Amino acid sequence: MLQLPVIAMRLLAIALVTVATSSALAFAPGTDAEIRERIKPFGQLRLPEADNGTEEAVAATEREPRAADAIYAQFCGTCHEAGVAGAPRMVADAWEERIEKGMDVLYASTINGLGAMPPGGTCFDCSEEELKKTVDWMVEAVQ
Ligand code: HEC
Repeated sequence: MLQLPVIAMRLLAIALVTVATSSALAFAPGTDAEIRERIKPFGQLRLPEADNGTEEAVAATEREPRAADAIYAQFCGTCHEAGVAGAPRMVADAWEERIEKGMDVLYASTINGLGAMPPGGTCFDCSEEELKKTVDWMVEAVQ
């Protein structure tokens, strides 16, 4: 009868050691690579030329240029279709005087913005080449 508490104590001790050992294993430091992965900073600097496999990381100059009509439909048409904020609508009359200024002036207005039109005509990730092609497309479309 007197032995029982002793046995119970031993069993308890064994249980504690087992728990301590298994939790020690659970928090094992791991390999160098695992440790580096665990303590790496949250943010990472992404340079345009860095290819980390994501779509956004590919700079405008590195991806395939988008088609002018697609850029127009996604960005420019928002204002130029209905003449929002005084934007020249896609009719010949609205463009005559502007076309007379020369394509280089129209390119520059689009790239830098003009009046109520923000730079890039709101296509902020468009390359200059894409914007120029889109201006060409618009000018051809109204002639
Ligand atoms: C937020 C509305 C808005 C969007 C979006 C927009 N434009 Fe415009 N755009 C304007 C307005 C307003 C003007 C007239 C500005 C002025 O003469 O003061 C204008 C004028 C222009 C002109 C004539 C510039 C000149 O020198 O006379 C061109 C070319 C042009 N837009 C191209 C584009 C292209 C290309 C896009 C899309 C990539 C685009 N716009 C998107 C509002 C917009």
